Amino acid sequence: ITVQVNKPGAPIAKTMYGLFFEDINFAADGGLYPELVKNKSFEIPGQHFIGWNAIRGAAALETYTVSSDKPISATNNHFVRLTAKTASPDAGLINEGFRGMGLKQDAEYTFSVYLRRGPGSVSGLNVTLEEEARSGAGPEAAPSGRVLAQTKISGLTADWKKYTVVLKSAGTAAKARLKLTLDGAGTLDMDVVTLFPKDTWNKRENGMRTDLVQLLKDMNPGFLRFPGGCIVEGRTLTERYQWKETIGDVASRVPLVNRWNMEFRHRSTPDYYQSFGLGFFEYFQLSEDIGAEPVPILNVGMACQFNSSELAPITAAGGPSANEGPAHNHADDDPTLETFIQDALDLIEFANGPVSSPWGAKRVAMGHPAPFNLKFIGIGNEQWGPQYLERYEPFAKAVKAKYPGINIVSSVGPSPDGDLFDKATKRLRELKAEVIDEHYYASPEWFRQNVGRYDNYPTTGSKIFAGEYAAQTVGIASPDNKNSWDAAISEAAFMTGLERNADKVIMASYAPLFAHVDAWQWTPDMIWFDNLRAYGTPNYYVQKMYSTNPGTTMLPVQRADNGKNGQDNLFSSAVADDKTGEIVVKLVNYSAEARLVAINLQGVKKLGKNGKATVLASSDLNAVNSLDKPQNVAPKDESFKVNSANVTYTLAPNSFTVLRIPGKR
Ligand code: AHR
Repeated sequence: ITVQVNKPGAPIAKTMYGLFFEDINFAADGGLYPELVKNKSFEIPGQHFIGWNAIRGAAALETYTVSSDKPISATNNHFVRLTAKTASPDAGLINEGFRGMGLKQDAEYTFSVYLRRGPGSVSGLNVTLEEEARSGAGPEAAPSGRVLAQTKISGLTADWKKYTVVLKSAGTAAKARLKLTLDGAGTLDMDVVTLFPKDTWNKRENGMRTDLVQLLKDMNPGFLRFPGGCIVEGRTLTERYQWKETIGDVASRVPLVNRWNMEFRHRSTPDYYQSFGLGFFEYFQLSEDIGAEPVPILNVGMACQFNSSELAPITAAGGPSANEGPAHNHADDDPTLETFIQDALDLIEFANGPVSSPWGAKRVAMGHPAPFNLKFIGIGNEQWGPQYLERYEPFAKAVKAKYPGINIVSSVGPSPDGDLFDKATKRLRELKAEVIDEHYYASPEWFRQNVGRYDNYPTTGSKIFAGEYAAQTVGIASPDNKNSWDAAISEAAFMTGLERNADKVIMASYAPLFAHVDAWQWTPDMIWFDNLRAYGTPNYYVQKMYSTNPGTTMLPVQRADNGKNGQDNLFSSAVADDKTGEIVVKLVNYSAEARLVAINLQGVKKLGKNGKATVLASSDLNAVNSLDKPQNVAPKDESFKVNSANVTYTLAPNSFTVLRIPGKR
């Protein structure tokens, strides 16, 4: 192949390779957001005891009821009232966590709770962290196992009071649980029960799970798209994601049913709610922590089109007005398009506005005086058809009128393809949309065959964001899809086509990002975890090899035989890295045979002597990684000699290789 070092193409966008985060598969609660108590505030409508069980054989516990009698606050207006007729070590509740609680030996956990003493002689609350003796869920919890930490909270008062204590775990357990029992007989009110690891990213009080953030940061991501995905839309408009309800005091954030609350293999009773402990402030902070541009996606005024045809009416009123109004209430509303537009304008002010602005002041009050420097905003997730376009147009106009510098990401629905997709693309280009977000989930073969997808896209006008894509080994939404090497190497092959078209494609992200091994709804996923461990799939390593080797300028690649990219199952792309003075060549050999390639670096200057190769390979296309074998398919580095501008390198069978060759353009 010839890399035309002397005929450089487009600059590679700094946002080229990024991340798409959605709260699916326990990605937020039970995953990145490390609160260990499920349903800490008893606020889940109609299901106030999700996650909580009375202790087996707790005859002493006369009642445990949810109450609203003089609650902590107007938004946090349910709590549990426990009444024990006799003093007993069994009078109490157990919280099961998110498929158990992961505790580590000698690690510290901050437990806090609001308590209010009622009639009787309850003198305290016993707090125990214990291992499950056996797994199981149901109306009653499993018998107790090894005790890992224990304390007693005393000094109860007749008014609500917050108590905080730090517990150190005496052992490591992937499935521990929290046991709370009354000391004495009588009544005790309890609310906002939390157990939070002290070891969080940047040691923040409401911080994220460190191993998961590290996996993200290691990728050098260009952007973070959040919070979804279909959860942006909700199954109904009432269940849509409302960012204003996810900021401010964590204890006051009201939970909402998750769009992905459904029966899944691990549990027949759906129990998936969003606590919003990971809310928009935390998403912005996370983006900053991992060096990624934040890309929030907002609801355009449409519920999820796969579930519903609910639409916000487009009113003829004079457009949104500035307001400092209260957060919406989930149940309150009959929102019009203006509500959604106003939310977008307020979000930009929240992210970037000064302290003198109403929403900027809220960000400052949360501890971030500097702006988050928001540059992108997504209008609608994976929406299509005329209903989308007629909402998008006034929406985009209003955002641009107030914030001309903000780049708008628009949606064209799922692909491949179809009439609606094509019509939406055409119209968005007419409207001079800046970034069009395309989604595709398809077979590994499709990814290899469509490496030229963007070759004939226009070089001017709207840019492309491949916002969600992944190879599906069985079929879209099949629970049996695997994160196999076949899927990953096919994505690597496809991505040479993204890189070759860096003048058109400026953002790309794999989907979905995270999955809990005991609580997923969608496969495949890039990173899998349990309550203690996590691993990157082969697909993770493919993404990481691109995002840590993005380069700065695209270099055209031609084959000596004039063949197309992908012909004979050899895929390639190249970039110059002007920061380091290297030429970076990406090569995919989708074949069971090793393959010698000769790379002519046409017009290269200042050639060095030693190159570095990063190789991801497996002879088994069905190979996967797992919690126990996280490195089964993982990249290996080696060096190689560069003798001249004609570099030769032997690609391993079924391999993805990144060559970094010292040399300038
Ligand atoms: O990534 C899973 C889902 O796939 C997303 O929520 C949605 O945008 C797409 O259909």
